[in-house]
Amino acid sequence: MRAVVAGRARLEELHARELERFAREHPRSRELARRARDHLLAGVPMHWMAKWPGGFPLFVAEARGARFTDVDGREYVDLCLGDTGAMSGHGPEPTLRAIVEQARKGITTMLPGEDALWCAAELARRFRLPVWQFALTATDANRFALRLARHVTGRAKVLVFDWCYHGTVDETFATLVDGRVESRRGNLGPPVHPSETTRVVEFNDVDGLQCELAQGDVALVLTEPALTNVGIVHPEPGFHDALRELTRRHGTLLAIDETHTICCGPGGYTGAHGLVPDLVTIGKPIAGGVPAAAYGFSAELAERVAGSIELEDVDVGGVGGTLAANALSLAAMRATLAEVLTEEAFARMIPLAQRFCAGVEAAIAEAGAPWHVTRLGCRAEYLFGPTRPRSGAEAHATGDFELERYLHLHALNRGVLLTPFHNMALMSPATTAEDVDRHTAAFREAVLELAAEGVLALP
Ligand SMILES: Cc1ncc(COP(=O)(O)O)c(C=O)c1O
Repeated sequence: MRAVVAGRARLEELHARELERFAREHPRSRELARRARDHLLAGVPMHWMAKWPGGFPLFVAEARGARFTDVDGREYVDLCLGDTGAMSGHGPEPTLRAIVEQARKGITTMLPGEDALWCAAELARRFRLPVWQFALTATDANRFALRLARHVTGRAKVLVFDWCYHGTVDETFATLVDGRVESRRGNLGPPVHPSETTRVVEFNDVDGLQCELAQGDVALVLTEPALTNVGIVHPEPGFHDALRELTRRHGTLLAIDETHTICCGPGGYTGAHGLVPDLVTIGKPIAGGVPAAAYGFSAELAERVAGSIELEDVDVGGVGGTLAANALSLAAMRATLAEVLTEEAFARMIPLAQRFCAGVEAAIAEAGAPWHVTRLGCRAEYLFGPTRPRSGAEAHATGDFELERYLHLHALNRGVLLTPFHNMALMSPATTAEDVDRHTAAFREAVLELAAEGVLALP
């Protein structure tokens, strides 16, 4: 135990060293962060940005491809890629061209254009669901899917897996505490206690799923096909078959959220593994960073939904939005799907994630750290535990906020940006082997130092 306490104290010293370097090397970002406090809540335009390591966020001058430059003129390899919003790489040429052309021809009219037809047909081809609608964010796509599921089933509840994340959807901020559904830590102003709206099961727990669905009040299971927001949690063999079979047996709809798992290939995990959900939701990178999202329906569900909405009420039913399906989003989506996030692009991106894993794994082994690295398509992640977690709770238990912040700041000071929410690295079509190797070198340096300094001592 004494070794662990000493290790933590040393981690704090190492962190202080990195904080000092960060402040010294970023005078302009530091000054902008100081001024930002005048009129921005917590000094940031969106409060999550307060979570970046370093004490203040980097201010970006320009982002292109897989790199960005800050206002102090320093260039970074971007493995965060806007937490998947920029998985296309920053400003891919075809998307930029489409944006400029479409902006000249009209940004939003609340009338359809031909791009909507192309995008829906392309999403249908990729995800094998025939009918689509558009939204602006993945959060909204999930909210609309949930609302429509409640509407057509006449049931009140959603079932999610413990430690899921599906955007700021009220009903999903629920977690299991000693088997009870409780509000997730940090849940701000919940409208009602989440146990009123939500059933929660551990990922990969087929018996738990059966038990909760048998209550007969679940409209929708909303899940990522593999959890990505608490570290990566892979489905066990047979889990998706059981999930599909049980939802059908109990009259519950199944929505697969592909917002992050589009990293698995052009049709996400659903396309790569032949899943057959009732709904697919997706957002973030599909329009190259321009706000856009989509949700797709099976033919049967599309018919049920279309047949159950009165024309007079379509604009006040709680589904849709003024700017949803705007011309700019759809032009950007068409170009991104047609020319950027293509089969060929994934064939380059996925081996880069394999390269990332090989480098990180070798460093972990060299340092003797009790950690592991895992991969889902072109997404890679290291976790502070020796083996793959089976559930969100197991993955969450390996979390170590201080260690994570230290490693992220250490990487940032050496020119590499990781996502601030976990240890995730994402490859874009513009990412290179050299970019990956820059991270490997920084990670190796950090983990060997942590081992030498006794920070990795186990309790
Ligand atoms: C799986 C998943 N779904 C939905 C969302 C929500 O995306 P947005 O914040 O763009 O609405 C996220 C965000 O991280 C996500 O990870």
